[in-house]
Amino acid sequence: MLWLHPVIQLLATIAGLYVLFLGWQRFKILHLGKQARFDWKSHVFWGRIVIIVWLGGLVLGKIAVNSHWGMSPVFLRHSQGAMVMVPFMLIAYLTGSVMDRKKKKRFWLPAVHGANNMILLGLALYQLYTGYFIVVNFIL
Ligand code: HEM
Ligand code: HEM
Repeated sequence: MLWLHPVIQLLATIAGLYVLFLGWQRFKILHLGKQARFDWKSHVFWGRIVIIVWLGGLVLGKIAVNSHWGMSPVFLRHSQGAMVMVPFMLIAYLTGSVMDRKKKKRFWLPAVHGANNMILLGLALYQLYTGYFIVVNFIL
């Protein structure tokens, strides 16, 4: 049970880097005036999966800590990082869904979506960093 959360969050974070790579292709087209190929369908498909798994994984992490240590939060920095991620995940999903539902030429919404998601990925990497120490000190 203790291994489930770290493993799926790690996989989701790796997939998140891939989604960011796909999004970067769009950024080059929209903001740098360069030519690139943006795989819209894969970006949306994997983007949704990453957000849903991160959110589900957050709940799993809370449940794991609750049932193992009898209370939560135990790991303060990791728990706070997760709480900060929540609004960014909601904004990522919402702005992404709006742009996917009605395709048209946009500037600001993709820019907000892109900046929001750069921060989101930074936070996920911070979770990887703090989570690594939990694994090493409390699980292994
Ligand atoms: C880890 C999650 C995600 C990351 C890192 C990410 C990153 C990005 C980036 C960097 C761009 C380019 C923005 C720009 O050109 O300024 C982009 C565009 C886009 N993203 Fe995401 N995204 C994520 C999740 C999602 C989700 C969940 C959806 C849909 C539900 C989505 C739909 C879109 C669409 C439709 C565009 C193109 C918008 C347009 O050109 O009008 N993304 N994304
Ligand atoms: C990316 C790699 C990550 C690793 C290696 C990791 C590792 C861990 C570990 C070992 C625990 C202790 C409970 C358990 O083993 O299930 C934990 C708890 C937790 N994790 Fe993660 N995690 C990661 C990412 C994330 C992310 C992305 C989020 C949020 C979206 C998150 C949210 C939480 C929360 C809320 C707890 C409960 C903390 C508490 O109540 O003290 N983790 N994590």
